[in-house]
Amino acid sequence: MSDRASDMRIIDGKAFAAGLRARVGTQVGALKERHGIEPGLAVVLVGENPASEVYVRNKAKQTRAAGMRSFEHRLPPTTSQEALLAMVRQLNDDPDVSGILVQLPLPAQIGADAIIATIDPAKDVDGFHTTNAGLLAVGGDGLVPCTPLGCLMLLKDRLGDLSGARALVLGRSNIVGKPMAHLLVRESCTVTIAHSRTRDLADECRRADILVAAVGRPHMVPGDWIRPGATVIDVGINRIDAGNGKTRLVGDVDFESALPIVAGITPVPGGVGPMTIACLLHNTVLAACRQHGVEVPVA
Ligand code: GUN
Repeated sequence: MSDRASDMRIIDGKAFAAGLRARVGTQVGALKERHGIEPGLAVVLVGENPASEVYVRNKAKQTRAAGMRSFEHRLPPTTSQEALLAMVRQLNDDPDVSGILVQLPLPAQIGADAIIATIDPAKDVDGFHTTNAGLLAVGGDGLVPCTPLGCLMLLKDRLGDLSGARALVLGRSNIVGKPMAHLLVRESCTVTIAHSRTRDLADECRRADILVAAVGRPHMVPGDWIRPGATVIDVGINRIDAGNGKTRLVGDVDFESALPIVAGITPVPGGVGPMTIACLLHNTVLAACRQHGVEVPVA
């Protein structure tokens, strides 16, 4: 296959995310100018998980770059559940805060479910509250989790109308797998959710026109599990030993063997990853507009 033919197959999430962030920036400018509204995102980090530190720093930087206010709250690893609940309640009541994100994972003494349940669903820009999960399940208009929303945007950008497509979602987490499946049902796909107990997984994969892999297992899906001409969205971000004393990031799909088979595939890194923060900014603007009862500006 020529380099050009394989380039056309790569779904460039990094470029799409940059475009989405620019559109969000335009919307933020319009909200300020027309309504005096300045959307704000509060991110809460408890403890010192190095990966979370990087995510939180990037979220704050991109929030400011889009022209929004960023409120960062860093709490010590010994923070009690009650103290974190108190902070969430304070952010719920703060009119300058349009969106709240409590970075996961949390230290063992704090129950994530209790924290998520306390976030005002109207400010739940992660889309993790059961109210938003329920609205997604019944086709309502809540806030949708950022990673599956980003996956859907990439699929629609590449394929246009998804109706009638056979979609396989590999993974059943509340953060990616389940909301992804609901979003695809909403697009009139025929959806299967596969997981660690699925029988004949390779055959299930081979039936799919759209394959979304979100299991967190490096290179779990080889090229010969993929239907020729399928579109593959790889949500996995797995750090593996590169053999030279260094590490590298790989997806759940074996990119090299998949590339000649697919019509389109997201790379790791540079595929789904950058879409997650861009969708977080999108959700923050949406939340701010709804809180103020104004239309989302067209951008
Ligand atoms: N940790 C890793 N990804 C996420 C995310 O999307 N939201 C939150 N709150 N924590 C995370």
